[in-house]
Amino acid sequence: MQSTIELLKQRVTAAVAAAFNLPEADVNPRVNKSQDEKFGDYQSNCAMGLAKQLGRKPRDVAQSIVDHLDIDEICTPPDIAGPGFINLTLKPAFIAGRLANIPPAPNTWEDRLGIEKTTDPQVVAIDMSSPNLAKEMHVGHVRSTIIGDCVARILEFEGHHVHRINHVGDWGTQFGMLLAYLRRTQPHVLENPDELHLDDLERFYVDAKALYDADPAFADTSRKTVVELQSQEPTVMAVWRAFCFESLRHCHEIYDRLDVRLEDRGESFYREMLPDIIKRFEDAGLATESDGALCVFLDGFTAKDGDPLPMMIRKSDGGYNYATTDLAAIYHRIETLKATRIIYLVGIAQKQHFEMLFTAARKIGWVADAVELVHLGFGNLCSADGSPFKTREGGAVKLKSLLDEAFTRAKKVIVESAAGDERRSAFDDATVDEIAAAVSVGAIKYFDLSHSLSNDYKFSWDTMLALDGNTAPYMLYAYARVRSIGRKAGIDFAALPAGAPYILDHEAEIRLAKTVLRFAEVVDQIAADLRPNLLTDYLYELSRAFSLFYDRKHGVRIIDAEPEAVRTSRLRLCDLTARTLRLGLSLLGIKTVEQM
Ligand code: ARG
Repeated sequence: MQSTIELLKQRVTAAVAAAFNLPEADVNPRVNKSQDEKFGDYQSNCAMGLAKQLGRKPRDVAQSIVDHLDIDEICTPPDIAGPGFINLTLKPAFIAGRLANIPPAPNTWEDRLGIEKTTDPQVVAIDMSSPNLAKEMHVGHVRSTIIGDCVARILEFEGHHVHRINHVGDWGTQFGMLLAYLRRTQPHVLENPDELHLDDLERFYVDAKALYDADPAFADTSRKTVVELQSQEPTVMAVWRAFCFESLRHCHEIYDRLDVRLEDRGESFYREMLPDIIKRFEDAGLATESDGALCVFLDGFTAKDGDPLPMMIRKSDGGYNYATTDLAAIYHRIETLKATRIIYLVGIAQKQHFEMLFTAARKIGWVADAVELVHLGFGNLCSADGSPFKTREGGAVKLKSLLDEAFTRAKKVIVESAAGDERRSAFDDATVDEIAAAVSVGAIKYFDLSHSLSNDYKFSWDTMLALDGNTAPYMLYAYARVRSIGRKAGIDFAALPAGAPYILDHEAEIRLAKTVLRFAEVVDQIAADLRPNLLTDYLYELSRAFSLFYDRKHGVRIIDAEPEAVRTSRLRLCDLTARTLRLGLSLLGIKTVEQM
């Protein structure tokens, strides 16, 4: 089923084409959701631009469009407002018909609410999470992981083929130090790499660095180890493999808790390709020697002093740079994976790096017109006073401890809010734990995703765990509440007559129905603009529309509604709301619980 906005765009396009004798391909119908209900549900503002183009009065142009608009079965007669806006209001009968087209849920996991997959599937590579393996995952990795996962879920839902690439830092000079330290402190690992255990990666890194700084002999060994690693000396490689394996195991414990799936393909994956990448730039005449290093000069990039700022692709000691690996990775993603959309979820601090990377890749001719390169740079997670988010001791907050704390806090919130409520205080321990797990992970994700991407945001347990407002607990609670309506009345939603019509009369039910119907276009919009906060905003709106519908005073009767056909219609609307909340939350990577 096509989304409503797509349908309206088609109709407006056809009307404009007919009214002004234009080819449809040249028409931009400019249909958007209305900002304010008093302007209807949707609004087209194409008349103004056309008027300029045609040298006519905007309101006359709007009138001609309306005269040609074949929209009777969808909207009430359109209004022309202000300088020539065309306001469109959906007819309840149209909304009811669309809702009736949504097939019943096949089962929980495959429910698509009747939204079709794209007819033009793309291969998308999402570069996400990507911690450096020498360190344990900390809050700095949370945004890339969570936002990347959400974007991946939405694009997969739309039917695209998505590679979720974990571009981990697993190669480079710091590994010389780490491996040398490992050899010194755990020599048995040399014989038996499987015996490697690093319970505290962070400590290990700090200790290795301390020794490196204090002991010149150790620093020397470290440098030799880098050379051995680069020449892939077998015993060093074995220890390196064991080290990466162990670090990735730490990461995947976190990914499992976050319910995030990733393909690990670290920097080392590209190591053999780097000489070839250099050669390509040399052959294209794009590489310049500068102080012994090899550089690519790109127009428009200058250092603070105004001098050209090159992209370094080989250091003077022959080693390669972060950028060299990224060039190899982009080449691989385009040439081998055949990706036509490559999305990097990396903090905004690396903005310039990605601008240079994309410019270089374009300059050498790797990026066909159809390929879209996006750096989705995000802001930092800060503490309440806006300073960087750190532990009391000033270190990075480990993701593991963040998740543990979230669980404890969520559990407390649940237990406290259940006190005095007979039903909820009767939950057994396993149920409370299940709810706390969903709420804690959900809260962190939801809070993150609900902020606009490029801004910094302040971390606040109280806000993210609030039972009211645009938060995960509220949303999960809204879902469970809809579910409980059925449970309380002993209704099996799946058994409601599938062909029964929706009867939309009351303002609150029309509003809820319209909001349910908008889900498809919100998902489409995020797939295009990559702004997950549109989905949290939408879900919040949906749960508010439901609250109003359910409200004793302002809403409608549901279980005790009469006649039967109205009751069935309202119950089915409850079910659709629950399904939309569940699907929406699942696209955010959040699991729902049936009771809360
Ligand atoms: N490992 C890098 C860091 O921690 C992030 C890598 C991002 N991805 C990329 N293709 N450069 O800063």
